[in-house]
Amino acid sequence: MEILIRPDAQAVATQAADILEYYVRRNATLGLATGSTPNPTYQELIRRHREEGLSFSQCRAFLLDEYYGLPRDHEQSYYTTIRREFTSHIDIEDSAVKSPDGTNEDFQAAVESYDQAITDAGGVDIQILGVGTNGHIGFNEPSSSLNSVTRIKTLHPQTVADNARFFDSKDDVPHHVLTQGLGTIQRARHLLLLATGEGKADAVQALAEGPLSAMCPASILQWHPHATVIVDEAAASKLANTDYYRYTDAHKPEGQPH
Ligand code: F6R
Repeated sequence: MEILIRPDAQAVATQAADILEYYVRRNATLGLATGSTPNPTYQELIRRHREEGLSFSQCRAFLLDEYYGLPRDHEQSYYTTIRREFTSHIDIEDSAVKSPDGTNEDFQAAVESYDQAITDAGGVDIQILGVGTNGHIGFNEPSSSLNSVTRIKTLHPQTVADNARFFDSKDDVPHHVLTQGLGTIQRARHLLLLATGEGKADAVQALAEGPLSAMCPASILQWHPHATVIVDEAAASKLANTDYYRYTDAHKPEGQPH
């Protein structure tokens, strides 16, 4: 796992966009996350599309997760959110942006066909991840099976509370979601986790320096052959080994890719 510490959220976004651009130029299949953390990265990619001609026309994208039971056109559905925040502003085909179907009454069919679609597409080349304050990734809450597939889950009350800011009230936050599993996520060839702000400092410390444990789902990055964590100073503030992370970042061998 490579840990890159950057001064602030904007510098995190620039670094993440540099890595993602490498994949976009190779017509990659992108794994996208919603939530607040990746938005500055999406804005930087949109800027590169508009000002530098970065084209996503040959890329495909799969979202991590979706609320179960929200209509697709609800402003907080992840189907709508990713279009509003990112994909409607670049030249990716709209039909190439896939997400679990949270409107399918047969949720088992919805999750199975989603994993199949990822497999049929040849897998995800690079998966963007945020992390919850409790260490969740996607909507795999603490105690999720480390090798789970896409499935329906019940949100932790902490996550409902965290996400209430996006809804009119806490009562409007759906309690169920369809999420890629920890096994599904680990099949992506490169995991790119972003975390910014002091509120993520405990989760970052746990995922990077704590045990590999279902109690911190993001700790699966320790087990993945190619994982990159980009954090700002605030999110890095509880890490113990920052001197080493900064040293390796400053002394990368010439030509070693991120
Ligand atoms: C979103 C997702 C979640 C978020 C996490 C952090 O698709 O899968 O795991 O990444 O809840 O959310 P933010 O970035 O809003 O702090």
